[in-house]
Amino acid sequence: MKIGQDQYRSIWVEDGQVKIIDQTLLPHKFFIVSLRTLAEAATAIRDMWVRGAPLIGATAAYGMAIAMREDASDAGLTLAHDMLIATRPTAVNMRWALEDMTALLRPLVPSGRAEAAMVRAAAIADEDVAINGAIGDHGLSVIRAIAERKGGPVNILTHCNAGWLATVDWGTATAPIYKAQAAGIPLHVWIDETRPRNQGAHLTAWEMAGNGISHTLIVDNAGGHLMQHGRVDMVIVGTDRTTARGDVCNKIGTYLKALAAHDNGVPFYVALPSPTIDWRVQDGVREIPIEERSSDEVSFVHGKLADGSISRLRISPEATPAANPAFDVTPARLITGLITERGIATASAAGLAALFPEHSAVTP
Ligand code: MRU
Repeated sequence: MKIGQDQYRSIWVEDGQVKIIDQTLLPHKFFIVSLRTLAEAATAIRDMWVRGAPLIGATAAYGMAIAMREDASDAGLTLAHDMLIATRPTAVNMRWALEDMTALLRPLVPSGRAEAAMVRAAAIADEDVAINGAIGDHGLSVIRAIAERKGGPVNILTHCNAGWLATVDWGTATAPIYKAQAAGIPLHVWIDETRPRNQGAHLTAWEMAGNGISHTLIVDNAGGHLMQHGRVDMVIVGTDRTTARGDVCNKIGTYLKALAAHDNGVPFYVALPSPTIDWRVQDGVREIPIEERSSDEVSFVHGKLADGSISRLRISPEATPAANPAFDVTPARLITGLITERGIATASAAGLAALFPEHSAVTP
């Protein structure tokens, strides 16, 4: 995607160094960071300098490649895997990427591992771009159909940031939006703020503004009201892990949007890259581990002060404890369709197995 006149991905290699954008500083500051060590790669994921399921996967792959420069022994491989997998538990793309990298590297002699790892990490990043581009094409057909039926701007609600910042490029939920904009379809995007981290306000709003897409920021609680008044034509969100039967785990609050959409007959779509499918689990509510993040994310907000400095402010009494589950699960029955790189599936075991028959063997 473009930032000003320059084309960027959210992770890239320059002069042999892995570069990322520190997303904790957006939208106020655009700051590029070099990841030089395994420890830095792990910190970047844990502290959410990078975030979003596909980007977490790509960063973990590069983290493994960086680790092989430090110690390419079998012990180094295990250490890198274990350190990275422990950073964030919910998005399954990291497990997918680390298993892929480990399977490739383990049989190689240690002297060949660093180079092979860098090549494979770059391929994983490229694959993510291709997958999201295809999701964009399939999602575009949904937006186009609504535009033709409606004859006016298509109002799309998206929750959290499933944009290009959350992937290597395009985004998942935003790929159809970017493609619809390029196709000249009139649209408007409602952006959820998504407390606790304000990712709609900080990240999706920054993306939409940067790409000239008509958008409005709303608080998390406004979505249901807008749907009741016919001001949302479709919802499209991302996912951190989708089960083999189509339950979707995504940023906290997604479930409430799905309930409101269901109650109001608003189509609710999930943009789903196949590495985000966990074929080993069925019941998302019971089986997906939900990350519990620091209570400080609830008790404090980050923002820019009038003097331009970035600061954090406490918003609750010091004695008040806060809980911070970062994700929730939307049951398949509330989902209109899963937009994958191979087409749109119903949110069901049969729907996913029809598009990904190579995995149906592990689907009970
Ligand atoms: O906690 P985050 O910022 O990593 O969570 C991001 C989300 O929940 C996204 O919706 C999801 O990863 C899909 S990203 C294309």
